[in-house]
Amino acid sequence: MRYIDEMTKEVDKIVNKKECIILGIESSCDETGIAIVKNGREILSNVVSSQIDIHTKFGGVVPEVASRNHIACINNIFNQALKEANISKEEIDAIAVTYGAGLIGALFVGVNFAKSLAYTLKKPLIAVNHIQGHIASNYIAFPELKPPFMCLLVSGAHTSIFKVDDYTKFTQVGQSVDDAVGEAFDKVARVVGLGYPGGPKVEKLALSGKENICFKRQNSLKHSYNFTFSGIKTAVINYVQNAQSRKEEINKADICASFQHYVAKELCDKALRACEEYNQKTLVIAGGVSANRYIFNYLKNEGEKLGIKVFAPPVSLCTDNGAMIASCGYYNLMSKVGLSDIDLTAKASINYN
Ligand code: KG4
Ligand code: ZN
Repeated sequence: MRYIDEMTKEVDKIVNKKECIILGIESSCDETGIAIVKNGREILSNVVSSQIDIHTKFGGVVPEVASRNHIACINNIFNQALKEANISKEEIDAIAVTYGAGLIGALFVGVNFAKSLAYTLKKPLIAVNHIQGHIASNYIAFPELKPPFMCLLVSGAHTSIFKVDDYTKFTQVGQSVDDAVGEAFDKVARVVGLGYPGGPKVEKLALSGKENICFKRQNSLKHSYNFTFSGIKTAVINYVQNAQSRKEEINKADICASFQHYVAKELCDKALRACEEYNQKTLVIAGGVSANRYIFNYLKNEGEKLGIKVFAPPVSLCTDNGAMIASCGYYNLMSKVGLSDIDLTAKASINYN
C-alpha cells in the first residue's frame, strides 16, 4: 500500500486514541528544535540547539552556515529529545515539521529528517506552518486557552495581526508593509553597537534608560491594521549619525528605551483596536519579540483598561522551538489538516492574503 494511503488510515486510528504523542521538528532559521508533546499541551521534552554564538561573529544569520549546523546536530537533538521524554521512537504517534516559512536550506534539513523518520517508522507526517506553530506555543503555556482570539504575531520575519478562528484556521487582518518588528530591533541594536541578536540586548539596556527621545510617528497607516517599521529604524540611524557628526555622546540606554516604547505603542494601538473591531476579549502575543516583557506588560496594562486579557508564552517558548510545532501538529492531526506524502517540500514564504 502507498505510504499516504496507509497513513490516512493510521490518522483515523490516532484521532480516537486517548493519548497522542507528537514529535515536533523546527529548523526554519538558526535554532534546531526537537520536542515531544502529549495531547498538544504537555511537554515531555523540548530540546533546542541555538546557533547564536556562531552567527554573532557575522552580525546576523548566515543562511548557508545555518543549514550546515542543522545537519550537524539534528540527529543528536532527536536522540536527546527521546531520552529526556523517556520514550522510544516507536511510541511516537506522528511527526510534525515546519515546512515554511523560513530560510529554504535550513527548512530542508528539518523536512528531510522528518520525511525519513516518518517513512522508516511508518508514522504520519504532518506539515506545520511556522507562524501557526508560534501561535500554538500559547496552548502549551495556557491550558485553558481556546480559539477564537486575536493574535499579534511579532518575530524576526513577521509582524501581523491575525484573527484565530479555530486551531487550524486563521485570517490575517494586518501586517507590516516593510520591516518586521524583530528586524527593527536587530537593526537598532547594530546601530548602537550592541550586536546580534538585538532584541534581548535592546530590552536589557532599555531597563536603565529613559523614554525621552521623541521619534516621530509615521501617520500614513494610522487607520489601517498594517504596520511600518522602516521609518523608526531610519529615525534611530539618523539620530545616531547626527550625534556622531556633531561629536556628541549618545545615550544608548535612552535610545533603546525610546525605540522600544515607540514599538510597544504602535503594536498596542493596532492590536487592541483590532480586538475591539472583531469583538474579541482575548489577545495572544506570539513570536520571538513576544519574549520582550516591556512590550507584553504595555499591552497587558492597556488591554486591562478595555477588558481585554493579554497572553504571551514564557520566554523559553517565545523563540523558535520544537514544542510549538508538535502542539500545532497535534491540532492539525486532530482536524486531519496537513497530512503529507513523502514528497513534502519546504517553502521559503507563505502568503496569508
Ligand atoms: O520567532 P523568532 O525566534 O524567529 C523568527 O521566526 O523570526 O524571532 C526572532 C526575533 C529576532 O529578531 C530577535 O531579535 C527577536 O525575535 N527577539 C526579541 C526579544 N527576544 C527575541 N525582540 C525584542 N525583545 C526581546 N526580548
Ligand atoms: Zn519564529
